[in-house]
Amino acid sequence: MTYPAPPTLPAGFRLGVATAAYQIEGATNADGRGSSIWDTFAQRPGVIKNGDTADIAIDHYHRLDEDLDHIAALGVSDYRFSLAWPRIVPGGLGERNSAGLAFYDRMVDGLLERGIRPVPTLYHWDLPQPLQDAGGWMSRETAYAFAEYADVAVTHLGDRVKDWSTMNEMSVHTLYGYALTDHAPALGLGLGALPAAHHLLLGHGLAVQVLRAGGAERVGVVNQHFPVEPASDAPSDIEAAMMFSALTNWTFSDPILRGEYPSEQIRAALPVSDVQLAEDLALISAPLDFYGVNYYEPTRIEAPKAGKDYNGILEVDIPEGLPFSPVSYGADDHTDFGWSIVPEALTAILLELHARYPSLPPVVITENGASFHDVVDADGAVHDARRIAFVNAHLIAVAAAVEAGVDVRGYYCWSAFDNFEWAAGYTERFGLVHVDYDTLVRTRKDSWFWYRDVVASLL
Ligand code: NOJ
Repeated sequence: MTYPAPPTLPAGFRLGVATAAYQIEGATNADGRGSSIWDTFAQRPGVIKNGDTADIAIDHYHRLDEDLDHIAALGVSDYRFSLAWPRIVPGGLGERNSAGLAFYDRMVDGLLERGIRPVPTLYHWDLPQPLQDAGGWMSRETAYAFAEYADVAVTHLGDRVKDWSTMNEMSVHTLYGYALTDHAPALGLGLGALPAAHHLLLGHGLAVQVLRAGGAERVGVVNQHFPVEPASDAPSDIEAAMMFSALTNWTFSDPILRGEYPSEQIRAALPVSDVQLAEDLALISAPLDFYGVNYYEPTRIEAPKAGKDYNGILEVDIPEGLPFSPVSYGADDHTDFGWSIVPEALTAILLELHARYPSLPPVVITENGASFHDVVDADGAVHDARRIAFVNAHLIAVAAAVEAGVDVRGYYCWSAFDNFEWAAGYTERFGLVHVDYDTLVRTRKDSWFWYRDVVASLL
């Protein structure tokens, strides 16, 4: 099978792969790691497909060298991974765990030895359980605890790590974990979840300060952006789509990129005085060196109809009281996860960000990829032509945005390896490397070889 030539990307464009600690590491009880909200959540019957847990995941913790070799052989310049807060500060606050830090020493040293730039994210949803017991992100104190953990991380790794992201997808964490019940900590607060959004943003702002003081050279944040369309021209659908976009996109980017919340209604839901809010926003909007965009699929929204299902990123029961309802996007093509394949929506969201924020820092696509239910064939290979077509089309979409004037500096494919896909467990496979969950054997998929060739062609 032949594929279109890879797009022309600017000189110095950085190609990488991405993962997150909880989705790959396993070893949840090893070497003094504390428990996280995901360990707690995964024990509840029925919340994760097939009753899967991430206790072993892909056992990356014990197979670090082999996995770094798979990444290095791709030739990528960057590896985005996350640090597990419960490994580094098991209680959330207070004592640090030197064995946990030693694992990330091995990771960072192993990457540098292989000529790869480490790009860690401090928080990819695995909050230490003791902090959840004290209120989690609904409590302002969690933001200060996060800043202390950021300080431990940068003090220890900052001599070698120069690129840092604070948070991963605060919107998805708030929506699924706090507004709905599909992810940990499964609070189902509806719009009552907005204080968690503010405290995550405050944690981001405090961590930016700490990282800079610790010598970080490039500091950014990672937001998922959902391109949103109304289901029809009806004013109620248009209003619902605007509300959805305000809640999932702009609530998490306006405070950072223009120092304000997108609407008075959202501001009114926050547990802070005007004076405190002004101080918080000054921290939250401190300049960044890069802005990470995760993109998977666009969303179509209509006026609220409680209890409706949608087969996609928002495959959830929408509780009463949320001012929108997602409907099927109606794309021609879907991944095996049922997500719409619409590469042009990536160009569109990049252009929208560029137009909305005159001060938009250079953008990195920190995640993009697709789940297909890949199998190892009789010939020992994994023929995932649809993933190749997906990534290729999205790289072309990025190139179109660059052509139109958006300063995009990099693209990280999600993911390096098949992994624990949160509430979907191990069913959904996003990796360039296939993992057999019985034997933990890794097999490079056709897309791995194709991506390696794309990387080589850009050098
Ligand atoms: C974004 C999240 O950051 C990541 O953890 C997840 O696996 C991918 N989306 C795919 O759903």
